[in-house]
Amino acid sequence: MEIEEYLHKMRDDWDERARRNARHFIVNGRSDWTEEDFYASGDQTVAQEILTDMTNICQGRDPRQMRVLELGCGAGRVTRALAKVFGEVHGVDVSPEMVRLAWSAVAGLPNAFIHQTDGATLTVLGDQRFDFAYSCCVFHHISSYDIIESYVREVGRRLPPQALFKFEVQGCTSVATNLGDTWLGVPFSLERAEQMAQECGFELRYHVGAGQECFWLWYFKR
Ligand SMILES: C[S@@+](CC[C@H](N)C(=O)[O-])C[C@H]1O[C@@H](n2cnc3c(N)ncnc32)[C@H](O)[C@@H]1O
Repeated sequence: MEIEEYLHKMRDDWDERARRNARHFIVNGRSDWTEEDFYASGDQTVAQEILTDMTNICQGRDPRQMRVLELGCGAGRVTRALAKVFGEVHGVDVSPEMVRLAWSAVAGLPNAFIHQTDGATLTVLGDQRFDFAYSCCVFHHISSYDIIESYVREVGRRLPPQALFKFEVQGCTSVATNLGDTWLGVPFSLERAEQMAQECGFELRYHVGAGQECFWLWYFKR
């Protein structure tokens, strides 16, 4: 499958999932999420992944002065929770349906903005720059190293030196995926994660979950 075709397929498949049951495809544990519980799960994600890690994320800055990028924001579950902590938050997603849901999730939050990406670049953001970038459960679903690396490079161009991009990849290296799959992403070994950091201008300083489905990486901009 050519990359162009794959980008269209990502957009269409995620639109379809958003129409069928967005909340279920975003957090698979349940199929009957209420809006309240779904948004509460976003608050919980921020409590667990962000508020426990403010030293690395803020590096002494006031969070209310920081601009944050969330890659693959889905229906805005985490975006709205991030907007309660940081000065300005921008979520991007490949699916127009998810983008629509995310706008509704952040309605009333004047510091949250949502954008539709082409699936591989951040061109839609123009020359906007950020102080911290975050992505949860997105690269998990991308079956192309080239696309993930493209995003990592693009994030790097928008962060100042030392800033953090915290994200998750698929860490089960026994898993086989094919280009064109929009559910099962390419697996990353620790070596591959280190290599991608080097090649994209980051230092991989911490990691959790190597060899497991949720493999978290702390990339600090060089
Ligand atoms: C499992 S959901 C997670 C959503 C959100 N991060 C959360 O935790 O609530 C995965 C999201 O990634 C988006 N996505 C998948 N491939 C993408 C790509 N190539 N570029 C941008 N977003 C993508 C999907 O549209 C979907 O909204």
